[in-house]
Amino acid sequence: MRVLGIESSCDETAAAVVEGQKVLSNTVLAQIDIHAEYGGVVPELASRAHIQNIMPVIDQALREADTTPQQLDAIAVTTGPGLIGGLLVGVSVAKGLAMGLGCPLIGVHHMEGHLMSPFLVDQGAGHDYPFVALLVSGGHTQLLHVKAFGNYVLLGQTRDDAVGEAFDKGARLMGLGYPGGPAISAQAEGGDRAKFRFPRVLLDRDKFDFSFSGLKTSVRSFVLKNEDVVADPQGCKDLAASYQEALVETLVIKSLSACEKTGSQRLVVAGGVGANARLREMLSKRAKRWGVEVFFPPLNMCTDNGAMIAYAGACRLARGEVSDPVELNARARWPIPELVAAG
Ligand code: KG4
Ligand code: ZN
Repeated sequence: MRVLGIESSCDETAAAVVEGQKVLSNTVLAQIDIHAEYGGVVPELASRAHIQNIMPVIDQALREADTTPQQLDAIAVTTGPGLIGGLLVGVSVAKGLAMGLGCPLIGVHHMEGHLMSPFLVDQGAGHDYPFVALLVSGGHTQLLHVKAFGNYVLLGQTRDDAVGEAFDKGARLMGLGYPGGPAISAQAEGGDRAKFRFPRVLLDRDKFDFSFSGLKTSVRSFVLKNEDVVADPQGCKDLAASYQEALVETLVIKSLSACEKTGSQRLVVAGGVGANARLREMLSKRAKRWGVEVFFPPLNMCTDNGAMIAYAGACRLARGEVSDPVELNARARWPIPELVAAG
């Protein structure tokens, strides 16, 4: 079964063709240049860029997969959550294609796409339920107990900023540019991560909610009081490494506690922040001590892409779920519990 996946919920225009768990093509056009000067995603500019780029991106994905539109068995598209303008572009194009080709259309929850990304073929992992999932992106920080495909219990989530947002805002304060995650990660290379101590906000130890706004405030006041550190090349490296360490350690502690609480020996990490090298390193090391096996998506599947949407769509289709091409609509807000309740 060949599925075209379309993703346009934030600042990447992406399309991919997936067959089973095999990725035949995966085209991603990032909009970094457009948003960099503003230090973050500007929704209106993102929508315009999606409109311009979506058809060429889909064409390229089909070409690289050596697939004609008529050979597609289904079309999957991110319907939410995300920026409404971008979502509408993807959903409109997917509806038109599905109607024109007469093939099934499946609306996909963006975070379910991320959740399935570690199972795309390069990773070689089968779906072995249950597991705990740490979903970490620019808009989300969540811990889920995944009992089966579509059956997710929300263990906890951020009460304020998402961790990707904390990376992005921290990078802006340090003058490191956008997107902040890769910038902080690069700057932290060669930095002393124990040089400055930032708080690990763990809230209630038995609960799995996160809070990153205090950490952001503490880095802001640090930067204001220590301009010399930021201006010094080694000082800035130490600052980035210390800040990253606080963010990463918070995620690691909470994730492993969630595994312990649910009796899970498997942990899946997904979303853009899952690309973070220090997170991968610390989590792999500590998980071993806890007897937990960690699955990360391949690096190019951590950030937004069409392959994860195609694959999650294929999993929905396998359960007989299709969307009505007339009724399907974009949803800026779509909490995971509502997805679960809908079946
Ligand atoms: O999943 P994603 O591509 O888009 C959303 O759904 O939000 O995640 C984007 C987020 C951004 O905040 C970006 O700074 C962060 O993921 N990110 C990283 C890294 N690569 C991307 N954060 C830390 N380390 C990275 N290497
Ligand atoms: Zn995402």
